[in-house]
Amino acid sequence: MGARGPAGPVDKGLEHVVMGESRITLVEGETGGLSYRGYSIEELVRHASYEAVVHLLLRGAPPSPSELHDLEAGLRAHRTLPPEAAAVLASVPRGLPPLEALRTLISSLGDGRTFGYPPTIDEGIALVAQVPVLLAGYVRRNQGLEPLEPPADIGHVALYLYLLTGRRPDPAQVRALESYFILLADHGMNASTFALRVVLSTQSDLLSGATAALAALKGPLHGGAPSKVSDMLDSVGAAENAERWVAAALARKERLMGFGHRAYKTEDPRARVLKQVARACAAPERLRLAEAVEAAAVAALERSKPGLRLYTNVEFYGAVVLEAAGLPRELFTPTFAVARTAGWAAHALEQAADNRLIRPEVAYLGDPPGRPWPAGAARTA
Ligand code: COA
Repeated sequence: MGARGPAGPVDKGLEHVVMGESRITLVEGETGGLSYRGYSIEELVRHASYEAVVHLLLRGAPPSPSELHDLEAGLRAHRTLPPEAAAVLASVPRGLPPLEALRTLISSLGDGRTFGYPPTIDEGIALVAQVPVLLAGYVRRNQGLEPLEPPADIGHVALYLYLLTGRRPDPAQVRALESYFILLADHGMNASTFALRVVLSTQSDLLSGATAALAALKGPLHGGAPSKVSDMLDSVGAAENAERWVAAALARKERLMGFGHRAYKTEDPRARVLKQVARACAAPERLRLAEAVEAAAVAALERSKPGLRLYTNVEFYGAVVLEAAGLPRELFTPTFAVARTAGWAAHALEQAADNRLIRPEVAYLGDPPGRPWPAGAARTA
């Protein structure tokens, strides 16, 4: 295994390192299973609202009717932005990609007085409630429009669409996007959650952790791929071109966006559910194209990378569903972030409940110590 660190073999991607214990989410990579607190995503998409899943993640059990009522009331109560955040929202320059604006905006939601250590469930609910308000507010400002007031009588997912468009959304679009929100709400020790837990482990606060998490989500190897899936589908153009297009992309040594996963060695279970959601809501031509690209890609990856078990991941049908919900591509990754706030908050609570500073080792391969500073080296410019 090459270089050795001070305490054992080097594992660059930490994929074989167990860094703690969690009771939130089980990812079953070999068999393609995913469950939150023991409830499979299939069960949750069938029976739960996103709000009920937020309660499940933050409190550890499904809500009773009165608990769900309280959670919904808590979300409503937090929808009004703190004045400082509203001021920052008004001053962030227009024209930024929404994800980059959100990175600044999240950290404006509070300070050490309003978000402290240890984090609380109420802070988690505030994060879930306010991130979509901030994001939609920025999108409206970017369009030269005023942010909209959140109406009281609308659920979390419908509210997000309303705040973006100013229209009461179509219930079918809301249901499709709500399935996406539930499926994306958490995913074990993924890169953004790990980043958040590192920050929390220093006894920093939830907003600081969420800002780090959002920064990690930006990259295409984590959350930045879905808009690239849409670009890929556009580039393929028609179902009949799929095999030829995929073969040419692999010959150019390109990665096919929406395929492969660090944890799943079979189809990503979220992709399986999202494919069903896409079948109910996507335009027939787009769906036919996506299914043709999926079939061509899985077959070609099996031929070109035998044994690596590269299958469809969440981003592939996630993109098709987000398109059908009417969201523009630049909002795909920010929408992933809006959904994932629930998981980030749950992990912040869990990290703080049994904290140990996360501080791994690295194998040093540089020059040996004890070198004298060269006489001719510059001291100042
Ligand atoms: N298209 C083509 N080849 C792929 C691939 C893809 N989507 N995903 C992985 N591979 C290949 C790599 O080229 C590599 O091949 P090699 O060993 O011959 O060089 C091998 O599979 C292993 O890749 P690696 O990057 O080590 O796997 P990983 O576990 O670190 O990567 C992903 C996981 C998700 C980052 C990777 O599959 C990927 O880049 N997918 C495309 C982007 C994407 O869909 N991101 C969203 C993630 S949810």
